[in-house]
Amino acid sequence: VRSRHYEVAPRAGRLTGSLRDVGYDFASAIADLVDNSVTAGASKIDVEIVFDGPESYVLVADNGCGLTGRELNEALRFGSMSTYSRGDLGRFGLGLKTASLSQCRLLTVASRANPNGGRIATRTLDLDLIEETDEWVIYSDRASSAFDLCRSRLRGSRGTVVVWEALDRVLNEKQANNGWGRRRLGHLAQKTAQHLGMVFHRFLSGELGSSIELSVNGEAVTPWDPFARSENATEVLDPVSLEIHNGQELTTVELSRYVLPPRKSFSNEELFDRLSGPLKWNRQQGLYVYRAGRLVQGGGWCGLRGIDEHTKLARASLEFNTDLDDIFQINVAKMRINLPSGVRQMLERPVHELCILANDIYRRHAQPPVSDRKNISLDLTDVGLAIRSAALEAGQLPAISQIEAILHARSPDVSRALGFSPG
Ligand SMILES: Nc1ncnc2c1ncn2[C@@H]1O[C@H](COP(=O)(O)OP(=O)(O)OP(=O)(O)O)[C@@H](O)[C@H]1O
Ligand SMILES: [Mg+2]
Repeated sequence: VRSRHYEVAPRAGRLTGSLRDVGYDFASAIADLVDNSVTAGASKIDVEIVFDGPESYVLVADNGCGLTGRELNEALRFGSMSTYSRGDLGRFGLGLKTASLSQCRLLTVASRANPNGGRIATRTLDLDLIEETDEWVIYSDRASSAFDLCRSRLRGSRGTVVVWEALDRVLNEKQANNGWGRRRLGHLAQKTAQHLGMVFHRFLSGELGSSIELSVNGEAVTPWDPFARSENATEVLDPVSLEIHNGQELTTVELSRYVLPPRKSFSNEELFDRLSGPLKWNRQQGLYVYRAGRLVQGGGWCGLRGIDEHTKLARASLEFNTDLDDIFQINVAKMRINLPSGVRQMLERPVHELCILANDIYRRHAQPPVSDRKNISLDLTDVGLAIRSAALEAGQLPAISQIEAILHARSPDVSRALGFSPG
């Protein structure tokens, strides 16, 4: 007996509206467009965020491989067909549409695939039209203001320009006409530059091979390296390779651990403040998770431990490639991953080591030198931490673990007072 099938195609009018809310903020929506430009092989990507009352617009232009008209039609399909190579930043066939519509109602993409000039393909996705007709439609309009903007960017070269207009999620109608709206766009431009400098710092610095140039409103975006690797006083711990079973294969995830210098040990204070990051020292401590070189999530310990003033100098990178996407469950907005429990377990010990050292460095600098102190009264758990971190620096962690175990068996009270945990 054959079961009956029913066709239940999505309703365009409703679904496009719902897909506006998959979780982007302004800067991460722009970052998803930049992902596309990077994957298209662009070496130069310009972002413009322009206030012009109700005609305000956002533009992302690249010099990547470009798209033909037919390819552009597919690119604007929700769930577009694409084949990905390892390391490609795309995954869902959604980003261009969902990121754009999270901020605007009118999306225009213009592209030229031929490096020697030639035809520019242009397509517009208009949310109002889709809601009105309840059909998945896009159209080609070569007479719009967006098309003029695009054409001026693509003069004589190949590449792609994405334009957002009707920025209803950025400026509401009232704001679009006053000084507040102008300030808001200015503020967003600043935030976006900061966010892109963080998310793409490895691409900007060129450490992944070929480097890219990124600008926001004409100003070059500078890479923000969370680990202050150019500072002499940054402590670098031994890297750790975590082996992960991915189906039949064994793949590695790399963990690199750093303790950043405290304020006084930084080469200058301005740099220390810059390294504080968008969310400032306390909330920027923790894990920085990279997918194919692009930062997905930065700061916080993914539930491994809490945010703590004493470990605010500890930061670590965790890097995986796109073949582990299923395991890390990256979300559509590319803002979050889920640490698989196996990886979480493997991270516990190395992260603990890192925090011991960070804690020690923090305390050493927070206190006056011993000779200045009268009536020294030491907290025993500090003594325990100091012993451990000295063992760590001496490369004697296995030895100290054995010592802790014996101490715990012979003198559990002393062991507890020193803050040593059994096992
Ligand atoms: N700037 C660009 N240059 C060239 N091709 C592009 C560009 N932007 C998008 N495309 C094409 O359009 C397709 C759809 O892009 P979209 O961002 O919607 O999905 P994706 O990148 O495949 O996956 P994800 O949803 O993870 O971003 C891409 O696969 C790519 O082929
Ligand atoms: Mg994409």
